[in-house]
Amino acid sequence: MIENILSFPKQLKFFPEVKGKFFEYKGDRIFIAGMGGSGAVGDFLLDWLKRDIVVVKGYNLPSFARSEDLVILVSYSGNTEETLSVFEDALKLGCRCVSITSGGKLETLSLNRDFPVFKVPTGYHPREAYGYLLKAGVYALKVLGYIDRDTYNVFVEASEAINRYKDSLQGEDSPTYEIAAKIYRRLPIIYSQYISVGVRWKNQINENANNFAHFSIFPEQNHNDIEGFDFPEFIKDKAYLIFLKTDYDHPRVKRRMEIVKDILKDDVVGISEVNAEGNSEVEQMLYLIWFGDLVSYWLAIQNSTDPYRIDRIRTLKRKLQL
Ligand code: PA5
Repeated sequence: MIENILSFPKQLKFFPEVKGKFFEYKGDRIFIAGMGGSGAVGDFLLDWLKRDIVVVKGYNLPSFARSEDLVILVSYSGNTEETLSVFEDALKLGCRCVSITSGGKLETLSLNRDFPVFKVPTGYHPREAYGYLLKAGVYALKVLGYIDRDTYNVFVEASEAINRYKDSLQGEDSPTYEIAAKIYRRLPIIYSQYISVGVRWKNQINENANNFAHFSIFPEQNHNDIEGFDFPEFIKDKAYLIFLKTDYDHPRVKRRMEIVKDILKDDVVGISEVNAEGNSEVEQMLYLIWFGDLVSYWLAIQNSTDPYRIDRIRTLKRKLQL
C-alpha cells in the first residue's frame, strides 16, 4: 500500500480513457454520487470549486433534483449498490449521467445508455486509487465544459507541485510518522475547515489502520463538539486533537482554532497541528490529504494491522446480498 500512497502525485497526472458519447454541460448544478473512497471525489470538488455541486452519499437523489441536472456517479468497483441506486433515480428523472469507474455494472449500464465513462485503472483498492478517481473527476468537468482551462490548469499545477514534498513526507523520521506515533493507542480527533480533508483523514485512519477516529468541521465544531470532553472520563487520557490548517482558512476560523486549542488543552492527552504547504488552495488541500494518507499507513504499521484488511465492510456487503 505504501507505494500506492506515495504514487498519489503520479496518479493525479494520469488521463482516463473515455468511453461512450461526450456532451457539453451548460447547466450549473451537478449531483456527485459515491460512497467511501469514491465518495471522497465529490467532497473534494465541492470544497475546491465552491459551485453548485450536491454531494450524494446514499441511495437517492434529493427530491429537488431535476431532469436538466447532471449526475456524476463515482464508484471504483462500479458495483456499489447505493451509487447504482442513484443512477436508477437519475435515469427515471431523465438526467444525463457521467460515470467514473474501473468497470463493473456502472460501466455496462452507462455504456448501454451511451453515457460517457471515464475509466480508472483496475487492480487497486478504491481508497488507494484516489488520485486516479480525483483526476478523472476534474478531467471530466473540463471535458464537459463545467470548468475552464485556467481552473483545470490550477489543479494540474498543484498536482505536479506536491511531488516536491515526497521526500519530506515519507519515512520513519517524517512528520507523518510522528503524528501516527502521537495518535497510537489514542482517539484521534480531527479538525479542519475542509470536509474533503477531514473526512478523508478519518476514513483512511478507520479503513487502513482499523482505528477509531472522529472528525468535526470548523467552525461548526465550536457550537457542539467543543462541549463533549467531560465524559466518559477516559477521554482526557485518550483524545488527541489534530488541527489541519491552511492559509485559506477563514480568518475567523484561524482565530477560533487558536482559542479552541487553549480551551481544550487540559481536557485531552495532546494536540498537534499540521500546516498545509503549497502555493494554492487546491495544492494545500492535496498536501493535507496526502499527509493524512501517510499517517493512516504508519498507524496501521504501529497497530500491527494489515492496511488492506476491511473485514467488517466485506462481511456487511456479503450479508446484504443474502
Ligand atoms: O475504500 C473502500 O474500499 C470503500 O470505502 C469503498 O470505496 C466503498 O465501499 C465504495 O466502493 P466503490 O469505491 O467501489 O464504489
